[in-house]
Amino acid sequence: MSELSLHEKYMRLALENARAAQGQTAPNPLVGSVIVNDGRLVGIGAHLKPGEPHAEIHALRMAGEHARGATIYVTLEPCSHYGRTGPCAEAIVQAGLARVVVAAPDPNPLVAGRGIQILRDAGIEVIEGVLREESERLNEVFNRYIVDKRPFVTVKSAVTMDGKIATRTSSSRWITSAEAREDVHRLRHESGAILVGVQTILHDDSQLNTRLPGGRNPLRVVLDSTLRIPENARVITDGEAPTWIFTGSNADPDKRRRLEEAGVRVIDTTGERVNLGEVLDTLGAGEISSLLVEGGGQVIASFVEQGLADKLVLYMAPKLVGGREAPTFIEGLGIADMNDAVGLTGLQVKQLGPDLKFEAYFPKK
Ligand SMILES: NC(=O)c1ccc[n+]([C@@H]2O[C@H](COP(=O)([O-])OP(=O)(O)OC[C@H]3O[C@@H](n4cnc5c(N)ncnc54)[C@H](OP(=O)(O)O)[C@@H]3O)[C@@H](O)[C@H]2O)c1
Repeated sequence: MSELSLHEKYMRLALENARAAQGQTAPNPLVGSVIVNDGRLVGIGAHLKPGEPHAEIHALRMAGEHARGATIYVTLEPCSHYGRTGPCAEAIVQAGLARVVVAAPDPNPLVAGRGIQILRDAGIEVIEGVLREESERLNEVFNRYIVDKRPFVTVKSAVTMDGKIATRTSSSRWITSAEAREDVHRLRHESGAILVGVQTILHDDSQLNTRLPGGRNPLRVVLDSTLRIPENARVITDGEAPTWIFTGSNADPDKRRRLEEAGVRVIDTTGERVNLGEVLDTLGAGEISSLLVEGGGQVIASFVEQGLADKLVLYMAPKLVGGREAPTFIEGLGIADMNDAVGLTGLQVKQLGPDLKFEAYFPKK
């Protein structure tokens, strides 16, 4: 096996360890580590929850004296700051490791590179970038939030094979199969907040909750510039989860008061239509690190046009409904020249029952 594929093999193992703690490390990232000495696996570790040792420390403790002269694989640059266990980079130096293989740098530009510098200054060989993309994907939410203090934005839609999210009469239940819908509920369970435009509430009276055994409900967010939302909408009355409504500058003060009395948080933004940048800043300030934008087409168009979407998750059912009036999942004005089309990267496709699930990334800003 070549040296690079050997590095990839052990980094993959470190990534699997990191992934095993999914959902329990927030607000910290998922990190895994393995230590290999003379072809033998001598240490293995993952960061399991905030306040507990980092992945490298677990692996170093397990390796004990076998760490001396060994290679450590870490999915994220070892830290250089004093937490509960001291800087991991220092611990690696103390333990006498010969080589450190790192997948991704620390995303925070203020600290990135410092951990690696400590290691190099101590004369340790450092190899960077092994399976970097996989590691960055694993922590995509953390990476966005730590750098911008805004949530990672996933745009989700369910479409027919001709790209429709409803028929010409607005009938939209159900486009996809039970398997795909269950997957959507898993996405909701993992998201800090779920967002729709008021038109979706007017059409569907959506509950925006997680219908999975043991599922947690995200914060519900509605964009409603003039407070058109009906006061008996389920997101207002059902008490399943908190609801925040973002408005523009022309919201009716009486309706606002009544909504607030019903327990809803109403938040002003500048401009006639809800200002999306301000929505993301407010959610970030509320420690919401991931946002699921579920539509409809007008709201998705705004996120895409303003370059505020990070990832697309699209469920496609093998159905056709046709019709010029039937809405598609991105409305708005649209692109004029095909050369300006939004190019997505990292496409992954999975079959869920009879449907397809596409995941892809929007261009980085
Ligand atoms: N298949 C699916 O996955 C799916 C998912 C969701 C919805 N749907 C369907 O989609 C349809 C509704 O979609 P839609 O496109 O008509 O409406 P929408 O995107 O749900 O809501 C649009 C409304 O949001 C308000 N808004 C406030 N700020 C905005 C901003 N910055 N950008 C865009 N909109 C903003 C606007 O009303 P104000 O200006 O009055 O605030 C606008 O009319 C329904 O038929 C629903 O069933 C399908």
